[in-house]
Amino acid sequence: MPSISPDCRGTIPYMRTKTLPANVSAQLLRSAKKVMKNAHAPYSKFRVGAAILLSNGKIFSGCNVENASYGMTNCAERTAIFTAVAALGPKIEIRAVSVVNDQGVPCSPCGACRQVIYEFGPDATIFFQSADGPKQAHITELLPEGFRLQ
Ligand code: THU
Repeated sequence: MPSISPDCRGTIPYMRTKTLPANVSAQLLRSAKKVMKNAHAPYSKFRVGAAILLSNGKIFSGCNVENASYGMTNCAERTAIFTAVAALGPKIEIRAVSVVNDQGVPCSPCGACRQVIYEFGPDATIFFQSADGPKQAHITELLPEGFRLQ
């Protein structure tokens, strides 16, 4: 299993299988839990971590970063995606996303994050905590008819 560097990047030597191997989804979950600890969430006290698996096997992660001007808050999912784009450029393809929170409560990606995931991962699988426990869903189940310009 590849090691995750401090900024939570890693590479997995396989790709393009339809179902994620259990060890890979477990690794995504671990990355999300690890980065969650870095959240800046003094206002909501709700720490969130997200990890994304790219089609090239790399993993990026991000946490929520709140602001005294609440609307400036960045969700964990978007932090992870923007970090990946900053590192690799805009041609990334998201295969899977894992989202966790420190309250152990249901937390699927918000609407804004669903649209951002869709931009880079129209075939992505999302792992999250639902009201019925851990769940996985295709991005188009969470965001039917997502917006695209091309
Ligand atoms: N939050 C995320 O980071 N991701 C989600 O999927 C849902 C909400 C953050 C935003 C804010 O910092 C806190 O959770 C409470 O809404």
